Amino acid sequence: MHIREAVESRYSCRAFLPKPVSEKIVREILQSAARAPSGGNLQPWVAHVLAGKRLEELRALIRPRLNELPHAEGGEYQVYPVPLKEPYKARRFKVGELLYDSIDIPREDRSGRYKQFARNFEFFGAPVGIFFSLDRTMGPPQWQDLGMHIQSVLLLARGYGLHTCAQEAWTYWHKTVSRFLDLPPELMLFCGVALGYADEAAPINQWRAPRADVTEFATFQGFD
Ligand SMILES: Cc1cc2nc3c(=O)[nH]c(=O)nc-3n(C[C@H](O)[C@H](O)[C@H](O)COP(=O)(O)O)c2cc1C
Repeated sequence: MHIREAVESRYSCRAFLPKPVSEKIVREILQSAARAPSGGNLQPWVAHVLAGKRLEELRALIRPRLNELPHAEGGEYQVYPVPLKEPYKARRFKVGELLYDSIDIPREDRSGRYKQFARNFEFFGAPVGIFFSLDRTMGPPQWQDLGMHIQSVLLLARGYGLHTCAQEAWTYWHKTVSRFLDLPPELMLFCGVALGYADEAAPINQWRAPRADVTEFATFQGFD
């Protein structure tokens, strides 16, 4: 698959088929994604991969506690700046609108929205869940290194016909997840990534998040 096709066919998949993904494939993806650059080659990413019985165990731990949402154990980091300024606020609003419209949940239906939000903690039915964390001493440069690694995972997954969804929502269960994974206290959970084969027919997978035009975020100087 051409890199451009991988980039353009990636989207946040929120419904997966129950078809398993082999450990071999996930290992290959993570190993290749370790080619991601990082300042000073620190490679600050740490991944914990769950599948099968272990993934079910985690789901079962959280399922009876969904009434604690939306904030559950409280985020370990601020997911969005407060207040969120424009144009970012409008972009966030738009993507929420598109997502809930695709599954016919109106704005006023708070319980419907919570139910969909709670699907995050099923990894949207994916057969594999990956948790990414990094050492608490790391700062913004290393957080972005981790982001480069994660994006590499998302794109490499496309080469195997797989889809993904990065999930910051897992920060709201950081205590439970950290305990479950036996994360040493120096590691901070950043996000989960759902990985599997997309349920292409699911309405929630039918829309695409819009992007600003290149003229809105880039300027070009010095070209002939
Ligand atoms: C680090 C990160 C965390 C995210 N967390 C969540 C999440 O918790 N739940 C979710 O449904 N989508 C999550 N997303 C998906 C974004 O909403 C999505 O990337 C954005 O709306 C653009 O859509 P696209 O990925 O389909 O192109 C996350 C994306 C990133 C990069």
